[in-house]
Amino acid sequence: MEVTNEKFSRRKFLTSTGTLAAGLAIGGGLFAGGCSSNGGSTKTATAPKWPWPYQKLDPEVVRKKGYEGWYEAACSYGAFNAIISELRDKIGDPYTTFPVDMFRFGEGGVAGWSSLCGTLLGSSAAINLVSGKESYSQLINELMGYYSETTFPTNKHDEYAKIQGQAQSVSGSPLCHVSVTNWCKASGKKSFSPDRDDRCAKLTGDVAAYAVELLNKQADGKFTSAFTLSSVVQTCRSCHDKGGQLENTRGMMDCVQCHEPHNQ
Ligand code: HEC
Ligand code: HEC
Repeated sequence: MEVTNEKFSRRKFLTSTGTLAAGLAIGGGLFAGGCSSNGGSTKTATAPKWPWPYQKLDPEVVRKKGYEGWYEAACSYGAFNAIISELRDKIGDPYTTFPVDMFRFGEGGVAGWSSLCGTLLGSSAAINLVSGKESYSQLINELMGYYSETTFPTNKHDEYAKIQGQAQSVSGSPLCHVSVTNWCKASGKKSFSPDRDDRCAKLTGDVAAYAVELLNKQADGKFTSAFTLSSVVQTCRSCHDKGGQLENTRGMMDCVQCHEPHNQ
C-alpha cells in the first residue's frame, strides 16, 4: 500500500514540476523515472503522453519508404514504419523506442486473413498515434474512403519499382480480399505472384503517403473531411444502421458489393 502511494505522489510531483517533467519525458525517453528521488532501486516507466508529436513529412519520401518496407515485412509494417521511421529521424524520442515490428501482424489483412488491408491498418495506427482523440477517426475515415475509391497502384513508383506500368484497379472496399482479387482480375496475375507482391508494395507507399498528406493538412490546421458515402449506402443505412427502423448492422462499406439491393 505504502509503495503505491509513494509512487503516486512521486508521479504527481513530476507532473506538477512542468518543464522538469517534460524534459525528462522527452530527453530521457521512456524511462524517465530512472533518476529516482526516493533512493530506491525500482525504475518506473513513464509512457510519453498520447498523442505523440508530429512534424510535417514529405509524402514522396514516405511513399518510397513504404514500397521498400513492404519487402522487409509486408504491408502493415511497411506503412507504419514508413511514417514512424521518418518521425524518428526528425524528432527522435519518443519514436526511438517504438517497436515497429509489432505491426507485422497486419500482413495480408491480419495474419493472411485478408480482412482490413494492412496498408490501412499500419497507416491508421500511425495517424492515431499522432492525432488527438478529436481528430483521429476523421482522418482515418478519409483514408478509408480514399482507399476504396482510388485507382491503385499509382504510377509514382516507376523510377525505382521492380515492375513498371502495372495494371491498376479500384477496390471499392477497404478489404484486402476485395482489393487483391479485383487487381488479379484486372491484371490477369496470380494472388501469390511477384507481380502481386510489387503491386502491394506500391500500395503500401501510396496509402502511407496519403496518410501523411492528411497529417500535414492537420498540422497546418487545414484538414477538412471530403469523403461522403454513396447515396446507395446512405439509403441502406437509413434503415439498417444507427437510429434506423431495424438498426441491425453497422458500417460504411459498400453494401451492394455483397448484397442485392431490395425494395421495402
Ligand atoms: C426502408 C428501409 C430499408 C432500406 C432503405 C433498406 N432495407 Fe434492407 N431490409 C429492410 C427490412 C424491413 C428488411 C426485412 C427485415 C426482416 O425481415 O427481418 C430488410 C432486409 C434486408 C436484408 C436481409 C434479408 C434479405 O433480403 O436478404 C438485407 C441483406 C438487407 N436488407 C440489405 C439492405 C441493403 C444492402 C440496402 C441498401 C441497398 C437496404 N437493405 C435498404 C429495410 C430496409
Ligand atoms: C463484405 C461483404 C459485406 C458488406 C460490404 C456488407 N455486408 Fe451485410 N452481410 C454480409 C454477410 C456475409 C452477412 C451475413 C450473412 C448473411 O446473412 O447474408 C451480412 C448480413 C447482413 C444483414 C442481415 C441479413 C439477414 O439475413 O438478416 C443485413 C441487414 C446487412 N448485412 C446489411 C448490410 C448493409 C446495410 C451494408 C452496408 C452498410 C452491408 N450489409 C455491407 C456481408 C456484407
